[in-house]
Amino acid sequence: MTGLDQFLWLIYPYIMLTLFVVGHIYRYNTDQFGWSAKSSEFLEKRNLKWASLLFHWGIIFVFFGHVAGVLVPKGFYEVIGVTDEMYHFGAVWIGGAAGLMAVAGILLLFIRRVTFRRLSIHSSTSDWITLILLAFVIVTGFTNTVGYTASGGEFDYRDSIGPWFRGILSFNPDAELMVGAPIGFQIHILGAFLLFGIWPFTRLVHVWSVPLTYLNRRYLVYRSMRPKKI
Ligand code: HEM
Repeated sequence: MTGLDQFLWLIYPYIMLTLFVVGHIYRYNTDQFGWSAKSSEFLEKRNLKWASLLFHWGIIFVFFGHVAGVLVPKGFYEVIGVTDEMYHFGAVWIGGAAGLMAVAGILLLFIRRVTFRRLSIHSSTSDWITLILLAFVIVTGFTNTVGYTASGGEFDYRDSIGPWFRGILSFNPDAELMVGAPIGFQIHILGAFLLFGIWPFTRLVHVWSVPLTYLNRRYLVYRSMRPKKI
């Protein structure tokens, strides 16, 4: 294993995760009023609706796909009787559909921001970097699903990327597991960690402020100030 391998698969992920944690604490303490999704709905609404729905639902399903494929160990599936073929079927068809939604959503969001002048002139450097990096991570992820997983590639990320990633989370990573991974997966993961590193300094912080309390809050009753005509 070279020094570069050690940097990429041991040191770099922790630099990015440290930025992720410390950056959120810093942003929360210094910029609570700027902690927002910076919605652009009032600049352009019609196209945002479909692009945003596709992107958000796609990325939510993709998140659960990552939990199932990267965080849950392969052995667990063996114990509960899910065979490799069954897993593979789900990863390709359910995962593929989720990936396609996320790809379509992020590309539509990108095209929208480029084509509507009102929107592009109100976009900050941070908005562009976030959008481009998100698109990069999503498209490279989907390329792996289509190029390796769906087309019967030999490589099984549940034997390598999964244990390596869980090792990162438990502070006991084995970089050797990543050295032999196909370049497409490596690029996807390096991009994902870069995204984690810049996350706290972008509009992505709104992910932690999903207004779940809306689901069971009390109704707001609006009444007219004008007296009723009888
Ligand atoms: C370091 C963290 C990550 C790891 C280890 C990882 C790993 C993977 C792997 C192994 C796949 C292939 C799945 C398959 O073919 O069944 C994949 C696909 C994908 N990843 Fe990631 N990923 C990470 C972070 C992210 C992030 C942050 C995003 C989005 C912002 C993302 C978006 C995607 C997408 C869209 C796909 C295609 C999935 C599909 O078609 O269902 N990944 N990723």
